[in-house]
Amino acid sequence: MRESAGVRVRKTQRPKGLFITFEGIEGSGKTTQLLRAAELLRREGLPVVTTREPGGTSLGLQLRRLLLELPEPMDPAAELLLMFADRRQHLREGILPALEAGRIVLCDRYTDASRAYQGAGRKLGEELVDLLQENFAPLEPDRTYLLDCPVDSALARIAARPGGDRDRIEREGIAFHERVRTAYRKRARKEPKRFVVLDASASPDQVCADLMEDLEPFLEPFRKRAAR
Ligand SMILES: Nc1ncnc2c1ncn2[C@@H]1O[C@H](COP(=O)(O)OP(=O)(O)OP(=O)(O)O)[C@@H](O)[C@H]1O
Ligand SMILES: [Mg+2]
Repeated sequence: MRESAGVRVRKTQRPKGLFITFEGIEGSGKTTQLLRAAELLRREGLPVVTTREPGGTSLGLQLRRLLLELPEPMDPAAELLLMFADRRQHLREGILPALEAGRIVLCDRYTDASRAYQGAGRKLGEELVDLLQENFAPLEPDRTYLLDCPVDSALARIAARPGGDRDRIEREGIAFHERVRTAYRKRARKEPKRFVVLDASASPDQVCADLMEDLEPFLEPFRKRAAR
């Protein structure tokens, strides 16, 4: 059992739920696929909850506003620490209780996003993110879907998205987003057991089919429980 200031995460015996994260650059289709997966699981009567970072709690919503809308420049390390403040609260208040209750948690971005955006995009280095993870958010996802597609097509989707003003991070240049994409892909190669890289250039139906095919074996225990 590992305990960091009140957030207990068992290394050997994990909570009974399932923790799935969705990662990728802006416009890669994370939210689209998370909502589709959630809908399919709900239709089967499985206990699913959807959440996101930043902004999965009441504190997180306020942090999200600062992180995405602050008009002045933000120090990169301050940005990273706010992301972890959000994550810490989210784990304690949202993710861990849901997993302990046996739910399937679908989370839009998690620690891999800090590695990619603040570690690589903002050039703070991944070691710093690893250090914060170990001390404040030691829970690893069971599965991470990396929605991967070229930066130009993802940014074109964002530009075409209805009603979407670009936020502080989306307004960064191409080189920033390329660093983020490269860092995500590198991480996926480093942790092939946890990550599944999905070709996010494909149609939404195809991406969803690829994702659900991979997720299928994880659902069996939940189906059995739901049938009882
Ligand atoms: N596979 C796809 N092919 C074409 N368009 C897509 C695909 N998936 C999503 N889109 C569209 O691209 C836009 C961005 O998708 P979405 O909001 O799901 O991305 P996201 O990764 O959640 O972005 P953000 O990081 O900004 O939240 C939306 O308008 C969505 O309808
Ligand atoms: Mg989204």
